[in-house]
Amino acid sequence: MQRAITVHPAGCKVTPTYINCNELSRFTRPARAVPRCRRGQPSIVAAQSSDFIREHLKELAAYTPIEPFEVLSQKLGRAPEDIIKLDANENPYGPPPEVMAALGAMQFSNIYPDAECRRLREALASFAGVGMEHILVGCGADELIDLIMRCVLEPGDCIINCPPTFGMYAFDAAVNNARVVDVPRLEGFAVDVPGIIAAAAEHSPKMIFLTSPNNPDGCMLSEEDLLKVLEIPGALVVLDEAYIEFSGLESHCSWVAERENLVVLRTFSKLAGLAGLRVGYGAFPLGLIEYLWRAKQPYNVSVAAETAACAALTNLPYLTVQPHCVCPLPSKLVICHLRVDEGPPARSKDEGPPARPKEEGSPAWPKDEGPPARPKDEGPPARPKDEGPLGGRGIRDAWGSN
Ligand SMILES: Cc1ncc(COP(=O)(O)O)c(C=O)c1O
Repeated sequence: MQRAITVHPAGCKVTPTYINCNELSRFTRPARAVPRCRRGQPSIVAAQSSDFIREHLKELAAYTPIEPFEVLSQKLGRAPEDIIKLDANENPYGPPPEVMAALGAMQFSNIYPDAECRRLREALASFAGVGMEHILVGCGADELIDLIMRCVLEPGDCIINCPPTFGMYAFDAAVNNARVVDVPRLEGFAVDVPGIIAAAAEHSPKMIFLTSPNNPDGCMLSEEDLLKVLEIPGALVVLDEAYIEFSGLESHCSWVAERENLVVLRTFSKLAGLAGLRVGYGAFPLGLIEYLWRAKQPYNVSVAAETAACAALTNLPYLTVQPHCVCPLPSKLVICHLRVDEGPPARSKDEGPPARPKEEGSPAWPKDEGPPARPKDEGPPARPKDEGPLGGRGIRDAWGSN
């Protein structure tokens, strides 16, 4: 892995992990020839619409989003139920059944949603262990990454990014005309804390992005390292915990009450299987959240999204057990271990969680050990095709490097 720290100047073309550069041509066009004037006619040259675009955006490479089932289905000529997507870390089991019931009974879709998302923030306060005054909900954690940058960064400010990691930090920095200083992860994908400290001394970053567990490798950040990064003066640390429930470790949401320079992001996309409804949230220090409230789009979380997220939080057993069925492990590889033979049990509230001895703790296997060995030829037990959360679409283990 290359160890050099790289700096992308503000507004430069940033090509994060997921951007397909071929897409760029769709968004940046060659300049059109200026039409010649006929003799005697006034030389009025109409502005091209692209002239209105802010300079730093003219070279921006578009984010290449993943494709949904319908599009893939058409492209591959296969039924959606025959496709198993592993490209966006979506939850194949979907949300708890309470979600669909609540969406079916949803009222007031003709009325704008609660701009303050009070019902959901109240539920999140006890789920995340931090006062609701510290919580802001967004149209996915993605929206919050952009919102924080819009509130914090001046054009030309710098952020520290630790690749390989989630592509949106670099992408949003480019949109917000910020410089990106890359401090690559060490071998084994650990964050290079001395590298961050050195880069901070040189570039005075306004923000530092840390992801734990990291996408794509699942590597965790130790508390010791987090504390060291939090000591860097003048930098707001954004700790992205989109996958924290899969680690078996505690979230750091409650830390924001004590630390003025820490933000913690989480999402319903992964744990609750709500990627399509777009609900993420963040825990923020009070001095910062006040300005995010002022700058956010008033109705950024739809009635359907809030309804679904609230319903998901009514089935904590489902949310607690699910991470054991889809478990990325901290290692050099992304390992998606899907237990088709089990799936998430206890699907209804009154049924309660599946029998599982309390003292077993979580996760189901020690982090450094990996999933329990299964004889290669055993495979999942035979089950009827229409059974189980994957409907018999038998995925077992998917492995991929970054
Ligand atoms: C680390 C990380 N953070 C945030 C997100 C996006 O979350 P959301 O769907 O809430 O926008 C992802 C999505 O893959 C991710 O991997």
